[in-house]
Amino acid sequence: MLADGEFDKQVGDDGIEVWVTQMGGYMNMNTAFIDKENGIVAIVDPFDSKRWIDGLAEEGLHPTHLLYTHTHRDHVEGYSAMVSLAPNVEVWGHEEARVLGLIGHVVFKNVDFTNTWKNNPDSSIEWRLGSISLVVTHSPGHAPGHVTLHGHGVYHAGDLLFTNGMGRVDLPGSDPEAQWRSIKHAKSILESLPKDWRLIPGHRYDWIDGTTPDWVTVAEALEHNYALNSPNM
Ligand SMILES: [Fe+2]
Repeated sequence: MLADGEFDKQVGDDGIEVWVTQMGGYMNMNTAFIDKENGIVAIVDPFDSKRWIDGLAEEGLHPTHLLYTHTHRDHVEGYSAMVSLAPNVEVWGHEEARVLGLIGHVVFKNVDFTNTWKNNPDSSIEWRLGSISLVVTHSPGHAPGHVTLHGHGVYHAGDLLFTNGMGRVDLPGSDPEAQWRSIKHAKSILESLPKDWRLIPGHRYDWIDGTTPDWVTVAEALEHNYALNSPNM
């Protein structure tokens, strides 16, 4: 189990590095896709930006892109610090995650996206930069404009899916029916992926056996995650 702010670093056959860490009191999971040759560091939902910047600097790297799964406060916690420490960073999220009417509510926090994805719910587009290629799937329900990102051996689920369950749908901006459509679509994506890919949840919660793993494999999630096996779909 990763300690707070500890980085798991894996290098794929394609040369892309994937760093995964867990940060903060809500055990937020962050993933970074790193193309060293082209100097690209794309971080999903960075929580503690100082920690990220220090960790990357140890290897002569710095953040170039932030990719947001959604704009709940705990997922954009690191935004302000990141744009002050790395002012040239590109900030990506889904167009529908610009929830201006909901920003007043305590669960959301404003992020000034420099670029947005605009695909329809339950559709995917490719985000490509250097040798990094990620599939971005619009998966609303837990929050407006929620996306998942997968590629390079990982499926970063955000708060759509945790290892054993799914994100709550009782918050302002939540849509339970959309959530079930998103879960159903996610299941079809997961079934198409190599079974040993890692499902990185938005938060590190308990698994079926009472342990608290940082991630599970796609095969394990498909077999045991209660939402992916729900009769609601
Ligand atoms: Fe959330």
